[in-house]
Amino acid sequence: MNVLGLETSCDETGAAVVSDGTLVLANVVASQIEIHRRFGGVVPEIASRQHVLTILPTIEEALAQARLGWEDIDAVAVARGPGLVGALLVGVNAAKGVAWSRGIPLLGVNHIEAHIYANWLVSPGEPAQEPAFPLLCLVVSGGHTELVLMRDHGRYERLGRTLDDAAGEAFDKAARILGLPYPGGPAIQTASAAADGREVVLPRAELRATYDFSFSGLKTAVQRVVRGSEDVDVPAVARGFQESVTDILVRKTVAAAETYGAAQVLVAGGVAANARLRERMGQALGDRVRFPRLEYCTDNAAMIAGVGYQQLRRGEASGLDMDVDPGLDLAA
Ligand code: KG4
Ligand code: ZN
Repeated sequence: MNVLGLETSCDETGAAVVSDGTLVLANVVASQIEIHRRFGGVVPEIASRQHVLTILPTIEEALAQARLGWEDIDAVAVARGPGLVGALLVGVNAAKGVAWSRGIPLLGVNHIEAHIYANWLVSPGEPAQEPAFPLLCLVVSGGHTELVLMRDHGRYERLGRTLDDAAGEAFDKAARILGLPYPGGPAIQTASAAADGREVVLPRAELRATYDFSFSGLKTAVQRVVRGSEDVDVPAVARGFQESVTDILVRKTVAAAETYGAAQVLVAGGVAANARLRERMGQALGDRVRFPRLEYCTDNAAMIAGVGYQQLRRGEASGLDMDVDPGLDLAA
């Protein structure tokens, strides 16, 4: 089964073709980062307009890369939320057009669930390895930070979430305070690597006895360091920040994995691309922890097609009246 996936929830226009929920035949991402960078973050109206311009060429490029024609596509999956309402509408309307004109099933996908399913994706020639349930998932993206227990496909129980900023958002805000470019995650990672052993130690919000997170105090701590010094050692502060965030993420994830007897731990979302987080999770959990390939960590449409396939298998297609839901939740 070949599923065409579409992703337009934020500032990447994505189209991908995935076979049987795992094998990525094409994954095209048209990034708008350069357009938004000068504003220091994503401007929703500009994002929507840009998606309108790029969605059709992106779909055509994905079909060309997969060397497939429309007749080879069995279903179309699209992110219907959470995300920016105007941006989501572009993808959802394109998907409806495809489903209607081709007479194929339309699958509305939760973007956060898709980040988790990025862990099922493999490229041609790579062996597919199904993760084993029960799974503990740490979702760390620009908009979300959640610890979720997954006992089976499509079943989610939230153990904890951020009480304020998401982990990726914290990276973006700290980078801005330090004068580093948007998006902040890769910029902080690069700056930390240049710290040469120096580190400004910053606080950790423990929030003991819960699996919830809080990152806004850390942002304030970075602000205080920057204001209190004429000559800020940016790499050392960036390193301290990255250590603080990864430390808390690893500690809470390991504790939850033990308590709930997780067979495997999946990390997902843009922050899963962070090299230090990968290293520390690996040290703590060994081969029990899995990360998506780097290109499937940040927003992409292959992960959307991955979830679409699971829905198709369960016979859960949406009607053409399916709507976007900017605040769509993963678990109660
Ligand atoms: O999942 P994603 O692409 O979009 C959302 O669904 O939000 O995540 C984007 C976030 C941004 O905040 C970005 O700074 C962060 O992921 N990010 C990283 C890295 N690469 C991207 N954070 C830390 N280290 C990275 N290498
Ligand atoms: Zn995302």
